[in-house]
Amino acid sequence: MTAHAVRMDEIYRLQRHFYDVTRKYYLLGRDEAVRGLAVPAAGTVLEVGCGTARNLVALARRYPRASVFGIDISRAMLASAATRIARERLGARVFTATADATSFDPSGHFGRARFDRILFSYTLSMIPDWPRALEHAAGLLAPGGVLSIVDFGDQQRLPGWFRRALRAWLARFEVTPRDGLATAIAEIAHRQGLAGRYQQIYRGYCQTAILSAD
Ligand SMILES: C[S@@+](CC[C@H](N)C(=O)[O-])C[C@H]1O[C@@H](n2cnc3c(N)ncnc32)[C@H](O)[C@@H]1O
Repeated sequence: MTAHAVRMDEIYRLQRHFYDVTRKYYLLGRDEAVRGLAVPAAGTVLEVGCGTARNLVALARRYPRASVFGIDISRAMLASAATRIARERLGARVFTATADATSFDPSGHFGRARFDRILFSYTLSMIPDWPRALEHAAGLLAPGGVLSIVDFGDQQRLPGWFRRALRAWLARFEVTPRDGLATAIAEIAHRQGLAGRYQQIYRGYCQTAILSAD
């Protein structure tokens, strides 16, 4: 296991038990991202850094014919995900694997090399080499595919004291808002021949971005 994987497990070993209850108040924009994905009927969707499977279950419910995949580096989080997927009786359509976002091979884990939709929900802010993770995932888009990101933004239009307190608190859990996301999206779009779109929402509390293979 890498040092990062060990650290993620340390953070989530206990937190996973109250993760969903607490995060619904501050991981804003996740449901909008799930709705906005518009997964094609019988399509495939992959969440990178799926955590407790909160979004995987929402995706499976919203897109009842889709096949839903998730990877995460934390075995502790995936233990919670497995319990949840079983409880929801979604095991025939929702699949997870332990893997690192920067290097995973989806063919080895899931027998699929490309996905119609890929979601990063509050994951890039925890991946040290996040540009590499993004570049890798963008290369896994099927023709017509869409990669969607929602994460903490720059909070520039929020009071300075709030921004400083939020960032100091997030840093305790290895979370760093990715202020270079807009630039990275433009560069990856250019390199991989994709269309890129970027915006800040909730006064910069969060940022969203799309890469599409039109
Ligand atoms: C804040 S949680 C978000 C979980 C979920 N996407 C959500 O929206 O609730 C971030 C997740 O990213 C995972 N993660 C961090 N670094 C990763 C990496 N390099 N590869 C895969 N997953 C990673 C963590 O283990 C954690 O489950």
